[in-house]
Formats: sequence, C-alpha cells, structure tokens
Amino acid sequence: METQPLIATEEPVERKPTPFKHRLVGLIAGLAGALLLFQFFFFPGPRERVHYDLSIRDLTWGDVNFLQTTDTHGWYSGHINQRQYHANWGDFISFASRLREIARANNQDILLVDTGDRHDGNGLSDVTVPNGSKSLPIFIQQEYDLITLGNHELYEFENSRQEYELVAAHFGSKYVCSNVEYKLPNGTFVPIGNKYRYFTTENKKVRVLALSFLFDFTRFNDGTRVTPIRDSIEQEWFSDTLKQFQPEDVDLLVVFGHIPISHKWSELYLLHTRLRESYPNTKIQYFGAHSHIRDFSVFDENSVGLQSGRFCETVGWASVKLNGKAAPSDSLIDAAKESFSRSYIDFNLQSFLHHSRVDSLDDFHTERGLNVSKQIVDTRKSLKLDDEIGKVENNYYLDYVPINHPKSIFELLTKKVLPTLNSTKSEQVSSAGRIIIINTGSIRYDLYKGSYTLDSQYIVSPFENDWVKLSLPRKVALKIASKLNDVQYITTDSQQSFESLKPPHHWNQPDHFFTQMTDGDKFEVEQEQEKNDYFNIKKQLPKGYVTVDDFGHDGDDTPHRPVVNYPIPNVVESVELNPHLKSDHDVIDVVFYSFITPNIIWALKELDFTRDVTKDVEFYSDEYLGLLLNSYIENFGA
Ligand SMILES: *[C@@H]1O[C@H](CO)[C@@H](O)[C@H](O)[C@H]1NC(C)=O
Ligand SMILES: *[C@@H]1O[C@H](CO)[C@@H](O)[C@H](O)[C@H]1NC(C)=O
Ligand SMILES: *[C@@H]1O[C@H](CO)[C@@H](O)[C@H](O)[C@H]1NC(C)=O
Ligand SMILES: *[C@@H]1O[C@H](CO)[C@@H](O)[C@H](O)[C@H]1NC(C)=O
Ligand SMILES: [Zn+2]
Ligand SMILES: [Zn+2]
Repeated sequence: METQPLIATEEPVERKPTPFKHRLVGLIAGLAGALLLFQFFFFPGPRERVHYDLSIRDLTWGDVNFLQTTDTHGWYSGHINQRQYHANWGDFISFASRLREIARANNQDILLVDTGDRHDGNGLSDVTVPNGSKSLPIFIQQEYDLITLGNHELYEFENSRQEYELVAAHFGSKYVCSNVEYKLPNGTFVPIGNKYRYFTTENKKVRVLALSFLFDFTRFNDGTRVTPIRDSIEQEWFSDTLKQFQPEDVDLLVVFGHIPISHKWSELYLLHTRLRESYPNTKIQYFGAHSHIRDFSVFDENSVGLQSGRFCETVGWASVKLNGKAAPSDSLIDAAKESFSRSYIDFNLQSFLHHSRVDSLDDFHTERGLNVSKQIVDTRKSLKLDDEIGKVENNYYLDYVPINHPKSIFELLTKKVLPTLNSTKSEQVSSAGRIIIINTGSIRYDLYKGSYTLDSQYIVSPFENDWVKLSLPRKVALKIASKLNDVQYITTDSQQSFESLKPPHHWNQPDHFFTQMTDGDKFEVEQEQEKNDYFNIKKQLPKGYVTVDDFGHDGDDTPHRPVVNYPIPNVVESVELNPHLKSDHDVIDVVFYSFITPNIIWALKELDFTRDVTKDVEFYSDEYLGLLLNSYIENFGA
C-alpha cells in the first residue's frame, strides 16, 4: 500500500534552525511517526476500503445531538491548499445524512444548527453581485433544523433581502431570529423568519423550544432593525412566549445565536438569568458565534454553550442527555458533564468517515452530497475563481509568527505591498512623506504557498473599502499607530464595545491563548515544547487546534500539536518618510481605510491634537488592499 497522508504533515510555521543532533533525532522520530500514523490516512480509490486513523476521539451521543456550523463566510469549497480542512459542502451534506441514519437506528435525535455570517471571506460568496448569489444556493442544500443570521447578513441591504427572500423562505419554520427585523416595501417591520420555534424531535419526540439572538450590533442597514437582548427580554412577545410554553411543555431549550458564548461577553448570561426565572431546571443548550473560535462554556449544571469556530474548519458537536443527573458532591463542571458533551470535528474526510462509522468513500457519499460537490466545481469554474493571478513562494501567516517576522503577512504588506498604493490625484502627495495605517482585522486569513487566484484575494482581504487621507504634522502623525495600539479593545462608540480592530479570533482571548514574546529565537521551540509536554502531545501529530474550554482540552476530535498564536496589534503601518524633511511641523500624508476614520479621530483627540479634522478627511484611492495585493503578486510574486 502506498502511503499518501491526506492531512498535511508540513509545518504551518517554518522552524528556526535547530542543532544537528536534534534535527537528526527529530527526523528519525518524524519518519517513524509518519509511518505509524499515516498508513491509515490513505484513500486509494472510491471502490477500495479506506482506513481511518484510530486516534480520532469518538463523539459522545446523547438523547438529542447537534451539529453546528458557524461563521462559514462562504468557504463551501473547502480549504483548497490546507488538507486538514479539505472537505467541501457536499461532503458535509453526506456526513449529516450518515449521522441522521445512526441517530434513527438508535432512537436518538440529531439537529443541525447554523448561526450565521455566510458572506465576506471567500471568492465563492463575494465575487458575485450581490454577494452570495451563487454560494447561498449551495449552502441551503444542507438540511438545517435551526438556522439564523449574523452581522454579515446585515451590512448591505441586498444581503438582508436575500436572507429574507431566499434563505428564510427556504427554511420556513426552521429559520429563527428573535431580535432582528426586516422592513417590507410598505414600511412594516416583520421578523426575519420566526421569533421562536417550538417542535417535537423526529425520533425521541423531545419537545424543544428554540430562540435565537444576534449580539448588540448597531451597523445594520436601513432596511433592517436589531433590538439588543437587554431590550428584547423586556418586550411583550418575549414574556408571552415564555408564558405560552410552560416548563412542563419544554424538555429542552435551545438558544442559538450570532453571539459569543464566552464568559467575558455578558449578553447571553443576561438572557440566561431571565430564562432561569421561567425555567429553573430545564436543560438549555446554547450555541454561539461571531468571535471565530472553538469554545465551550458551562452556564450552570443544566446549561452549556458551544461555539464552532469559523471558515468551515470545524463542525461542532454537542449532545444532551435529558435525564443526566449529577451527584451532590460533583463540582459544577462535573455536574454539567453528566448531561452534556462537546467535540470539535475537523472539516475533513477522515473525521467525517470516522464519525459516520463507514470505511469507504463509496459508503459515505450520498447522491445529494455528490451533486453539491459537483455544483461547487462547476460554479468555481464559471466564476473563474481558480484562474491564476500569480505565484506565492512562501506561506505568510496572520499570527503563527511574530508580527515582524519575514513570514508575517503584515511584514509583506507594510514593507512591500502598501508602498505601491497611489493617490488618484498625484498633486495631493506631500513631499515630506506618507504613512499608511491598516487595522489588522482587514486581513482575514493566511496567504498560503502556491497558486494565487481571485479566490485567494477574497480569502486574504475581502473588504472593499476606500482609502482616505489626512494631512497632519509629522510629530502627531508618527504617534497615531502606537496610540491605537495602546488600547486593548478600540471602540468607535460605546455600543460597539466589542468590535475590535483585530481579526475576530483575537477578540476576548484568554491570555494563555497567545504566545508571549520573551526570549527571541529560542523561544518558539521552547514554548511549543512546553505546550506539547503540558498536553502530552505526540511530536508527530499534525499542527492544528488544541482548544482549552470549560470541559478541558480533549474537545478537538483530532489530537493536534498546538499552533502557536502570537499576539498582534490593533493596527500596523507602512512608513515612507523623506529623510530631509523631518521637522515636527512638516506635513505628511496619513492614509487609512475610511472604515477606521472614527478610530483615527479618536486617537488624535487622545494625542491632544485639538484641530477638528472631521471635515479634512479626503478621498485618496479606491484601490483597496485585495487589489493592491493582486497587482503586487502578479508583478513580483511573493
Ligand atoms: C461583496 O463582498 C465584498 C467583500 O466582502 C464587499 O466588500 C462588498 O461590499 C460586497 N458587495 C455587495 C454588493 O454586497
Ligand atoms: C404591509 O404589508 C404586509 C404584507 O403584505 C401587511 O401584512 C401589512 O399590513 C402592511 N402594512 C401596512 C401599514 O400597510
Ligand atoms: C443529482 O443530480 C442529478 C443530475 O442533475 C439529478 O437528476 C438528481 O435528481 C440529483 N439527485 C439528488 C438527490 O438531488
Ligand atoms: C503606482 O504608480 C507607480 C509609478 O507610476 C507604478 O509603477 C505602480 O504600478 C502603481 N501602483 C499600482 C498599484 O498601480
Ligand atoms: Zn464571522
Ligand atoms: Zn459575526
């Protein structure tokens, strides 16, 4: 048998040179490990048997089981250059069908949940006008039992309209949105979908009441309206609904929404307190979203929350035993473990086959799944997503290397790409120089080695913002970026208190998530070794998520070596200064995305710059970051 690992064994991070002896030992260990582990990772052909890796952790089934997707942002083709997340939406459809068969055979139930953000992050969704016109018809072929929207469905009215007319219409009673409304042409606001869903499960006849809330999002378009949780729970419909469904009518409450389940985010906990007034002992399963991480929180011994990552890297699994009972001596966590379980399934075929308990692709794929895979291939072709723009020779990372490392994508952008930005009006250009500031959240994903395509552009930097400019004295201009980086969470106004300038998975992370910069070069390897020892990680495992949550660190279905995440600042800057004009009063151009104008103005105030600059912000260019990157890679490679 030939061995061809399906999961890449290559390092996401290129390691610093290690002494030869270590390298040799590493090489031998690595080879042996590769042989042992990866003889199972082998897919010879559709008709032959497929062996799966026995080290994948099994799912724990309960009475009611869930698969959750969230923050897919259009990634239905799978991760084309990362084998670890290589499955596509058609494979996921087959997977769900197989699990439904298992559930039916064992008189258990399985419910599929999606918690929104289906645009902005992938060519398949973003290359069309309106966004999503080709990707949503693919997405909705998954048979969700509970589905709702995210903030990315609410920036542009066109997206909200599709949500109302296509997605909500398609899913009918299964589309639930308790606090977002849509404006009909005659001006009447109606819920998008339904404010709640009350239903009985197919097999065990469990009575479920489901509610769904979006976080307190304020940048919704005029055709929509969001009522924050704190106000929703005071409204009549809410108390009416709770009165209508008394505790004896509800076996399980499901609250799923586009909102983090982290203990640091108070909104769901406020809701929880209110729900417990009406349902003191009912089991509650929460599902969260928005901050793009794998996470699991214990609310109390009868309620927990799961959040299933981002970008089709993860299918989340949750299960509930309705009669799970804790012993009086149990800790809160142990008590919750009597009723609930969770897993984070890697979005690839090994994991899908393993949990489906089948061992050939032939037995795995369903006709519908294969049809959808084919639809994806055809759609990509018609949208020319795979047409090559240029070649990328290295991997460039968002946070797997320190920010000033040659393989940091921010190093590439600030040193090479941003300097190619030209003003539309050349007479605007100051001779003293220019600073371009970008928020790190304007980059969505790593840039991987290989063919750079239209799809890559949308993956790395999907946002189509205009550049604007302020002319400012050098003295003040040079301080803006560090002022913006002084604050942990930059807020544009009090309502958006959680909208940070960083990429979502850097919001609200516990400190242990990040590698601390301590000892230069030595550090990366040591830190990694420390983590490996702590988690008892075998060296030969592929790199990936090692999630630490309220239930411990065994939730990832595939044991990984942990990736090292470095902290990143709120903003980075490209600095091009004229060395001959460096008096404090020389005026330089400060260029930034119009999107962060409020943050720049905030920083100037903090720097005691008293001139009101609000009216001086002028248009600079519409050559947004994705386009700059395209032309840079087309001309120079990367
Ligand atoms: C399409 O998606 C891009 C990338 O996310 C976004 O910048 C643009 O505003 C979207 N356009 C429409 C019409 O929704
Ligand atoms: C607006 O249209 C909806 C649906 O057709 C209807 O139910 C509602 O009564 C209308 N509202 C007004 C103010 O005409
Ligand atoms: C799959 O596609 C074929 C050809 O388009 C169609 O005839 C068939 O009904 C589809 N099957 C399912 C289950 O959707
Ligand atoms: C900006 O102008 C320079 C000089 O004319 C040109 O070489 C470069 O390609 C332009 N940059 C872009 C992104 O078009
Ligand atoms: Zn998202
Ligand atoms: Zn979101």
